[in-house]
Amino acid sequence: LVAVTIGAALAPGANLPPGAAECTRLQAGYARPQTIPFPADNPYSDAKAALGQMLFFDPRLSGLGNASCATCHNPALGWSDGLPTAIGASGKVLARRSPSLLNLAWGEPFMWDGNMPTLEAQALSPIQTDAEMNKKLPALVEELEALPAYRRMFNQVFPTEGISGPSISAAIATYERTIVSNMAPFDRWIDGDEDAISESAKRGFAVFNGKGNCAACHTGWRFTDDSFHDVGLPGNDPGRAGIVPDNPLAQNAFKTPGLRNIGQRGPYTHAGSLPTLGEVIRHYASGFIVRSSLSPEIGRLDLSAAETDDLIAFLQTLTSKDDVVPVPVLPTKDQQ
Ligand code: HEC
Ligand code: HEC
Repeated sequence: LVAVTIGAALAPGANLPPGAAECTRLQAGYARPQTIPFPADNPYSDAKAALGQMLFFDPRLSGLGNASCATCHNPALGWSDGLPTAIGASGKVLARRSPSLLNLAWGEPFMWDGNMPTLEAQALSPIQTDAEMNKKLPALVEELEALPAYRRMFNQVFPTEGISGPSISAAIATYERTIVSNMAPFDRWIDGDEDAISESAKRGFAVFNGKGNCAACHTGWRFTDDSFHDVGLPGNDPGRAGIVPDNPLAQNAFKTPGLRNIGQRGPYTHAGSLPTLGEVIRHYASGFIVRSSLSPEIGRLDLSAAETDDLIAFLQTLTSKDDVVPVPVLPTKDQQ
């Protein structure tokens, strides 16, 4: 292991401290959890997750029957969509990029500006938003009622509730919490396999935690602090300030995205404005806009070309080989 401290303890350009104690601290800070947390008021069951998965992939949740959650959160594209900003079911280009849904069981709030406190609260919003899926909830409940297989599954999982807004969102949220990135080369290295990642990636990890100051915000095994920062990107979107207008640092601030499987899901940032990881790093080195809301953790970085390559090599080790996500066969009217 390269010995480094976690977080912003190092001034940019400082040498990395040596020592086995630092190594141990480092490993603890990046250890993956063994279990997925589920809230007490929406506990996990296999049947609930299976129902949520079916709803997630079902285009009948959209008004035109042409878009499911997976249209914009596509497992093949790191649970995003590969687009700079999302395109709604009616073809309207939206203002923000579709974020990845990986590892959301551990963090809140949700959305780029954090305006959704829980996954349960979030799930019905894209369905009913005109520019996204544009389906009225009463019409959706009625349609699901007409499908015997859905009726049976809802009655099994929600015996008193049946098919309703809250039961639809509880099932979808449960499925979403099962969307977890697998072991990546980085995790095998943290577990002690020195050959799991390249020497360049190890140097990149040191830059990430040291000179680059990236770990000030991209913390822990998910590589996010679940907080909001202005990293100096252009654009008129107020971000977090739309929710908490009185906080001067909320202007242009967006939620720190986790960096798991980051290599699979460009273009990057809330507006999809940076096409490659190289451009992301050039932005952090010197491309940011200096303004009063800019995070104090952002400052000019004198990264050599080799350090930039090392940082990219490190970021690529965060991508796991995930299992193929099974797309469920959806219930039909004739099916009992
Ligand atoms: C038209 C594309 C589109 C569809 C369809 C869509 N989403 Fe999204 N989703 C987005 C965009 C764009 C955002 C970010 C919006 C924002 O922050 O203002 C988002 C954000 C989210 C988030 C927050 C993630 C985070 O990291 O904070 C969750 C959870 C989510 N969507 C789940 C769903 C579910 C469940 C469905 C289906 C019921 C769905 N989405 C359908 C585009 C879409
Ligand atoms: C001040 C906190 C902060 C620091 C320091 C920071 N980031 Fe970020 N990072 C963010 C936020 C917030 C975003 C989302 C910005 C946006 O879209 O407006 C982001 C976005 C990214 C993205 C794009 C992720 C995506 O899904 O679109 C990558 C990659 C990234 N950062 C890597 C890094 C690297 C590498 C460093 C160090 C050179 C770094 N970050 C330093 C907070 C930070």
